[in-house]
Amino acid sequence: MAADSPVHDASASLERVGQFFSASLGNAFEIPECEKLGTCRSVTEFEKLNRVGEGTYGIVYRARDTKTDEIVALKKMRMENEKDGIPISGLREINILLNLRHKNIVELKEVVVGTSLDSIFLVMNYCEQDLASLLDNMPQPFSEAQVKCIMLQVFRGLKYLHTNFIIHRDLKVSNLLMTDKGYVKIADFGLARKFGVPVKPMTPRVVTLWYRAPELLFGSKIQTIAIDIWASGCILGELLAHHPLLPGRSEIHQIDMIVEMFGTPNDKIWPGFSSLPALENFTLKKQPYNNLRHTFPWLSEAGLRLLNSIFVYHPDKRATAADCLESSYFKEKPHPCDPELMPTFPEHRNLKRRSDQHENKGKARSTNSYQDFGSAFSTQLPFVSILLKHWNMA
Ligand SMILES: Nc1ncnc2c1ncn2[C@@H]1O[C@H](COP(=O)(O)OP(=O)(O)O)[C@@H](O)[C@H]1O
Ligand SMILES: [Mg+2]
Repeated sequence: MAADSPVHDASASLERVGQFFSASLGNAFEIPECEKLGTCRSVTEFEKLNRVGEGTYGIVYRARDTKTDEIVALKKMRMENEKDGIPISGLREINILLNLRHKNIVELKEVVVGTSLDSIFLVMNYCEQDLASLLDNMPQPFSEAQVKCIMLQVFRGLKYLHTNFIIHRDLKVSNLLMTDKGYVKIADFGLARKFGVPVKPMTPRVVTLWYRAPELLFGSKIQTIAIDIWASGCILGELLAHHPLLPGRSEIHQIDMIVEMFGTPNDKIWPGFSSLPALENFTLKKQPYNNLRHTFPWLSEAGLRLLNSIFVYHPDKRATAADCLESSYFKEKPHPCDPELMPTFPEHRNLKRRSDQHENKGKARSTNSYQDFGSAFSTQLPFVSILLKHWNMA
């Protein structure tokens, strides 16, 4: 080995100040001063209280930071489908969230580790509700003023994301969190992507079926911010109708429901429509009417105009989040209520899991209570941003 070649001592601690070993280049490199962000704390510094959610990519716990006494949400990254031991979707989520700061986007406070790279947790500000479980358990639906308050916040969060070149790609009620102060936060960036101009092809099987835009259902590989807008329209419709607007049971059924609600698209309103891949496999039913008015007979003209500007088939002609924020629907009566005046609700997600809590009583501070978190005492890792850069997560 040449005298000046970098030497990596595998037994040395990863924490060695200012140096990091590159898996791809096989050598050690200096960490730039601006990226020395310290090390990740261990998950054992958190006391697990209860499980609040489990989705596609992670399990989420309510937990107490024993150092600060603060209640936080801990999202454990799922390790299935990982590449080279790294949960790609989780690292994408971290990478995106680390760069976002907005009052309508969930706040990633830090990343903590279990034993090693095989358990990574996101520490987020805890939000008392998610809209899905709230809608399932509310004694009476949100009033129109409350719906406006929620949707304004969703559009503000979306505008921020889209101006920062992020497409969320999985907007739905379970990914909208609400705090006790009435603040709505867009969460779950497991499917989110940064986009460039021009937009590069991406897999069309994103966005939960009920919220999926027609261009995705018809197999378009080009995804734009318009897919988030379609999903936000489905959320607005759901809040106003008090039930999911387009609850398809399969992709074909979803397309049928969309056509039934908005009429059959054609090349005139959506140039290029007839050459979308999925249309090779079937012909659409002819349905010439838009049934939105029929679905919301009580809604004001401004409200209907907003929905119609969102549910435009041609993605390029669909309203943007900035357009939606300007809608006269939000300026007319009933006026959007102030977030601080939103009612507070019982925390169903915690109540439901009382049995869990009883089981854990008495063991809370024993190592057993960390079973789900991974075993005690972590290897201290250089802050995850370094990893992200090096595994080329952009
Ligand atoms: N910061 C948070 N505060 C409170 N609950 C949360 C938080 N983040 C997620 N949750 C709960 O966990 C559920 C799953 O989290 P999410 O980030 O959507 O993960 P997944 O990718 O598994 O769907 C959410 O629907 C919500 O109920
Ligand atoms: Mg989710």
